[in-house]
Amino acid sequence: MCGIVGYIGNKKAAPILLAGLSKLEYRGYDSAGLAIIENEKIVVEKDKGRVKNLYNIKAIEELNGTIGIAHTRWATHGVPSKENAHPHIDNSGNFAVVHNGIIENYSELRTFLEANDYKFISATDTEVIPNLIHYFYTKDIKEDEYRLLRAVKSTADKLIGSFAIEVISKNEPNNMIVVRKDSPLVIGKGYGESYIASDIPAILSYTKDFYLLENLEFVLLDRDKIRFFDNDLKEFEKKPTTITWNAMAADKNGYEDYMLKEIYEQPRAIRETIGTRIEDNACKFDELNFSKEYLSNIKQIYIVACGTAMHAGITAKNAIENLCKIHTEVEVASEFRYTNQLIDENTLCIFISQSGETADTIAALKLSKMKKAKTIAITNVIGSSITREADYSLYTHAGPEIAVASTKAYTSQITLLILLAIYFAEVLNSESEDILQKLIKELCSLPNKVEKVLEEADKVKEIAKKLYKEKDIFYIGRGIDYATAQEASLKLKEISYIHSESYAAGELKHGPIALIEKGINEIGIITDESLVKKSISNMEEIITREALTTLVVSDDIVPNIDTNQFTNVIIVPSTEVFVSPIITIVPLQLLAYYISKEKGLDVDKPRNLAKSVTVE
Ligand code: G6P
Repeated sequence: MCGIVGYIGNKKAAPILLAGLSKLEYRGYDSAGLAIIENEKIVVEKDKGRVKNLYNIKAIEELNGTIGIAHTRWATHGVPSKENAHPHIDNSGNFAVVHNGIIENYSELRTFLEANDYKFISATDTEVIPNLIHYFYTKDIKEDEYRLLRAVKSTADKLIGSFAIEVISKNEPNNMIVVRKDSPLVIGKGYGESYIASDIPAILSYTKDFYLLENLEFVLLDRDKIRFFDNDLKEFEKKPTTITWNAMAADKNGYEDYMLKEIYEQPRAIRETIGTRIEDNACKFDELNFSKEYLSNIKQIYIVACGTAMHAGITAKNAIENLCKIHTEVEVASEFRYTNQLIDENTLCIFISQSGETADTIAALKLSKMKKAKTIAITNVIGSSITREADYSLYTHAGPEIAVASTKAYTSQITLLILLAIYFAEVLNSESEDILQKLIKELCSLPNKVEKVLEEADKVKEIAKKLYKEKDIFYIGRGIDYATAQEASLKLKEISYIHSESYAAGELKHGPIALIEKGINEIGIITDESLVKKSISNMEEIITREALTTLVVSDDIVPNIDTNQFTNVIIVPSTEVFVSPIITIVPLQLLAYYISKEKGLDVDKPRNLAKSVTVE
């Protein structure tokens, strides 16, 4: 999980590379560096720490070169240090490489190269790449324009694992080669210039036309041309995709942090995700167009994902089972792969991934396909790896999500899953028209209700001021509110580093209540009318033990309970149970955000985390 950027054109490369890296820091931020071809030499500047450190390196300011590659790192092999930072160069200093991914067979390759007198400076898996390129380049006797391309291809043939790499060489100072396998890479097309990056937002301010690279497509770039070659090095034509997001969508746009901006973007993101999928009070999925016969053959559904995306799955399970009457399981992708799931051609597997690049989720998808399951990918990123693997791809339209802690992607994913459940139920005729109509109406009212919650942000901020010094915070809820509790707890630990657990409220007395004592903070969520009495008694068990309680409750429940017994109360608009997490999570996202701010932490880039986890 790292971010890579490249530039080839007529402008000074360094400022473009640094700006791109800053936008990719969500992918990793423990060290950063760049390599630029300067007066036919390769100049490498890199350091431990964040991209901003590179801005202070005087030598970078003075670089005029117009071809360069750059990298921001999330360490996998070797600690964060200057030596382990990218770019890496070969022993001759002729080839520089940045790499995102993991080379699984790097130690064998290293042994091979060492036997051929190559020396290694870093502890990374990457350093074998420039040296292998040198090895193949020097062995090649044909001195034509494809020599570097052939060396990169021979190197790629030796690599096992995942990689997106950019290569520059002193020997071919007007070219760059890029290739990817299971790690993302896009090329932005300009006039007489090209931009390369791990994702679109990093270079969106320069162009709207992108080539989304497929696995093992090799690209030979010079200033005027972008040439594509398949894995046999046969040249082919590739069409660019035009992206409609604007650069502002990928900027902070006046907000202090990306996370806050993305929390506030939720009403729009939900609206866009609903988009044209509701027409004449019915749900439409042109991408699927399933027949009743096709859906009737589905005997079970698996929803597989990681982190927040998995929580979106947990939230939607209830709706799918109730509306479609199909047994539904939700699994963490990293576990799904190693338990022998009973899936077959009558199973539908739905994979959710904001980035569409999460290694565990993609591996689980490949496994399900091997077992002949039908597969749907739900993602936010057009052309991402997951969409190339799945039988069907559905896009949330949340816009670029930059903050590591996912917010608008989560609410958009739930929105899409509920739309999907309604669509299935319509096709299967498995639920009454009345119930489906009510749910559709409610879905359409969600953006306004989320806006109402956002208007109360200052109240949440005050609660954050009381809670930010806590060491432990517990979240409880029943049914759908337990699903929200799990996501709320994850948000808090991700960005505030406060230890937090979530429990099904009824489970509390089977163990966790032993942790409750005077002064401990507990957050309870109650939005399901049918569970009010039971949930309130669980909260009272906590209050009796002198813990402090924050209640998140929907406004229709308030008249039926005594809110005075809680330390803090957050009231949210009521809605249909299946979609309530879309509203309830919002104050809890804000709470995690403000707690992190009170603690003076970097909200957007929490320690040890990366947004796109492309390693297993
Ligand atoms: C990482 C991120 C989480 C995210 C998870 C799954 O752990 O820090 O915010 O939920 O990956 O990512 P995906 O892109 O597959 O949704």
